[in-house]
Amino acid sequence: MCGIVGYIGEQQAYPILIKGLHRLEYRGYDSAGISLINDKGDLSVYKAKGKVSMLEESVKEKDVTGTIGIAHTRWATHGEPNAVNAHPHYSQSKNLALVHNGIIENYKSLRAEMEKNGMTFCSDTDTEVLVQLVEYMQNSHKCDLYTAVQLALKNVIGAYAIAILEKSKPDQLVCARKGSPLIIGVGKSDNGRAEFYLGSDATPIVEYTNQVIYLKDEEIAIMDRRGRLDITNLSNVKQTPQLVTIQMNLDQLEKGGFPHFMLKEIWEQPNALRTCIRGRLNVTDKDVLLSGIIDHKEKFLKCRRIIICACGTSWHSALIGKYFIEEAAQIPVEVEYASEFRYRNPVIYPDDIVIAVSQSGETADTLAAIQLAKSKGAFLYGICNVIGSSIARATDSGTYLHVGPEIGVASTKAFTGQVITLALLGLAIAKEKKTLSDEMFHMLVDEFQMIPDKMQWTLEHNKGIDKFAQMFTYCKNFIYLGRGYNYPVALEGALKLKEISYIHAEGYPAAEMKHGPIALIDEEMPVVVIAPKRGMYEKVVSNIQEIKSRKGKIISVVTQHDTVVKGMSDYTFVIPDTRDCFVPLLAVIPLQLLSYYVAIAKGRNVDQPRNLAKSVTVE
Ligand code: G6P
Repeated sequence: MCGIVGYIGEQQAYPILIKGLHRLEYRGYDSAGISLINDKGDLSVYKAKGKVSMLEESVKEKDVTGTIGIAHTRWATHGEPNAVNAHPHYSQSKNLALVHNGIIENYKSLRAEMEKNGMTFCSDTDTEVLVQLVEYMQNSHKCDLYTAVQLALKNVIGAYAIAILEKSKPDQLVCARKGSPLIIGVGKSDNGRAEFYLGSDATPIVEYTNQVIYLKDEEIAIMDRRGRLDITNLSNVKQTPQLVTIQMNLDQLEKGGFPHFMLKEIWEQPNALRTCIRGRLNVTDKDVLLSGIIDHKEKFLKCRRIIICACGTSWHSALIGKYFIEEAAQIPVEVEYASEFRYRNPVIYPDDIVIAVSQSGETADTLAAIQLAKSKGAFLYGICNVIGSSIARATDSGTYLHVGPEIGVASTKAFTGQVITLALLGLAIAKEKKTLSDEMFHMLVDEFQMIPDKMQWTLEHNKGIDKFAQMFTYCKNFIYLGRGYNYPVALEGALKLKEISYIHAEGYPAAEMKHGPIALIDEEMPVVVIAPKRGMYEKVVSNIQEIKSRKGKIISVVTQHDTVVKGMSDYTFVIPDTRDCFVPLLAVIPLQLLSYYVAIAKGRNVDQPRNLAKSVTVE
């Protein structure tokens, strides 16, 4: 949610900043802006409504020279998306320019206070209040920028990642964070001089350096071209920066011949999941090795309840994880919307384990939920994709998905990565607790190993979805149905369709239909039913019958060679046979493709759907 890029060094900053904004555009895309200090010492700010390409267009005739700069891509929270509200924001004297990710909760009272002192504001944003506050502190305390930022941030309630330029000090870049992520890349230019990069995540940085520092909450950093990098906290206590080497492949940040990141990420799933299980699932020895569990074995042996907190797609994968862990490890699991959990007074026992599931590892509600759980003494386990993310660092132990960066706003490979990781977790706990017979454990390990190949098969055998999807562009509603492990898949299929095609869709447990939603069925209503030849097959067949007799259109996901459901359906997607607990990993693939192709047929921007952001760092 909002992306920040920054650079100070010997190179021209503009190309680095623009490229970085393109890499971060998935975080927000309603407006963008850039600020540079040129060799003459002019501090410029250029902003445009819309995508980064609009910003590029708007600065074609402008001076964009300079070896220091900051840039921002916005997802509006305060003030409508337009060029005035876009970042960077100038201070009143235009001596400072600032970009911000987060929300300043007390911005109204701060603004009123400054207005009383004669300061004027151009925008509706909380960010302008922040930059004005820094200047106000500089003037009233006659101090340097760094001290003014410290003083200003002490008065601020809320979350922020900021980067700030000062016209009269073109040799320094100042940044700070609390609650919103900010990474400093430490590099060297061709002539060996120091250069520094800033990014809301590592994607704008990895092209130039793999040496990074994850700024911690309430830390402020100052960097200059002579290689100075000082970090203190708000009370001016010096902090020791920890340099981390990140491993990210640039190919992972490109579309690689696919028209959209989403389609690329759907097709990446078999390989991504091979990477996810590599070293963790040992088929020869029929074993599951998760260091996050092994290192805390006693906690898991003693644990009497698991609570999983998550949002969005991650909440859906958590539901599948619940079914798996309860079945395999015999531990009760509760799945909570992090945004609800954090504002209740939940009962947490000392032998509870609270798991956060989050692709980005930055979702504000999930982070707050686990902070609450920690304050009540729970042991925290993180399942994140982004390495070094806030949730990964806030938890006591955890497992990374290792599915590679996910850029498409609609989550696909992170969903299947989360399901796989939760299944590994369930098996690893089951092994420690000996809740499964050896025979069953070995059978599950063997089947697990085959899932990536079966995913590949599913992708290869559902290629006609693009043509079929055209028929559904007129639809205003969809219903998705599934039972058992496939109920969360129905929720996820419906969410994917809503997110990128803007068609209203609801997921339901199939048997709940008759308690209300069946009233919606008529010849206009497509009903997507996940009906594998396993578990509750016969019951799902009856549910389909009920829909057919009310003239609903059936789109089904069936097991290869199924004839019964196929005969009852207007269209079918096929998946290979697998055990019930692994069906979600296959069944979700045609649903991802269906949403993708319906959205394409409707002319939607699938990688950047309206109003959504990939990483929701505000509540
Ligand atoms: C946003 C994204 C979703 C994601 C959710 C939770 O809404 O658009 O795709 O599922 O946040 O994000 P997380 O990073 O915590 O999994």
